[in-house]
Amino acid sequence: MTTLLATHALDAFYGDFQALFGVDFELAQGEAVAVVGANGAGKSTLLKSLVGLLRNRHDAIHFLDHDIGDRPAPEIVRMGLALVPEGRQLFASLSVEENLLVGAYGAARREPWALDTVYELFPVLRERRRGNVADMSGGQQQMVAIGRALMSNPRVLLCDEISLGLAPVIVEDIYRLIPRIRAGGTSVVIVEQDVARALRTVDRFYCLQEGRVTLAGRPADVSFDDVRKAYFGA
Ligand SMILES: Nc1ncnc2c1ncn2[C@@H]1O[C@H](COP(=O)(O)OP(=O)(O)OP(=O)(O)O)[C@@H](O)[C@H]1O
Ligand SMILES: [Mg+2]
Repeated sequence: MTTLLATHALDAFYGDFQALFGVDFELAQGEAVAVVGANGAGKSTLLKSLVGLLRNRHDAIHFLDHDIGDRPAPEIVRMGLALVPEGRQLFASLSVEENLLVGAYGAARREPWALDTVYELFPVLRERRRGNVADMSGGQQQMVAIGRALMSNPRVLLCDEISLGLAPVIVEDIYRLIPRIRAGGTSVVIVEQDVARALRTVDRFYCLQEGRVTLAGRPADVSFDDVRKAYFGA
C-alpha cells in the first residue's frame, strides 16, 4: 500500500504546553483510520497539526511526497487535506448552498464532488439548500459540514467527532456514507469518542493517551482489554 500521509516524531505545542509527543501516524491511499482516546488525549491536536493549523517541523509531516510540517493551512487544503472540525464551524449567516460553495474554493481536484453529488449523498440538503444553516438540526448541520469539506475534493477527509451530540439514528446515517466517500477516492481519518463504532468503521486505528500513541493496529488484532488499557492507562 502507498503511504499518502504520515507524521514522523510529531510534537505539538500550545505555547509552553506540549500536547503531542513523538507521534508516528500513517494513512495509506484508500484507507480509513480512526484516532481514539479520552478527553484531552490530543486527537484534535493531531488533526489540527495535519492540516497546518499548528506549526511544526518541516519534516514532521509528509503528504504526497512533500514535507509539509511547516506549510500554512490554506496551502495544505489546496493540496487535498480537508478538515470537518469539532463543532462544525459553519457560516451561520449563509445558506446551505453558500456554505457548500465556500468549500469548493481552491479545490485540490475537480471530481467527483460537486453540488449535485453532495446533494445525492445528503438529499435533505438539496431540499433545504436556500435555508439558513442556523435553522437546521444538528444532524443536518453536520451533513453541511461534511459536504463543505467534500466540495474541495480532498484526497484525505479528516473528521473530528462527527457524531457528537447527534441522535443515534442520525449517526448511523452519517457513518453509512463513509464507504461512499472512500469509493470516491478519498481516504478518511475519523476522531471518535465511541470507540466501538470507530473500530467497526475503519481498517486501522491509533489510540492516544496524554499526547502519546499507546496502541495502534487493526481492530481484529486487538482485544477490548488492550484498547481499554491504551485508552485509560489502567
Ligand atoms: N488552544 C489551546 N491552548 C492550550 N491548550 C490546549 C488548546 N487546545 C487544546 N489544548 C490542550 O491540549 C491537550 C490536547 O487537547 P485536544 O483538544 O487535542 O484533545 P482531544 O483528544 O481532542 O480531546 P476532546 O475529546 O475533549 O476533544 C489538552 O490537554 C488540552 O487542554
Ligand atoms: Mg477534540
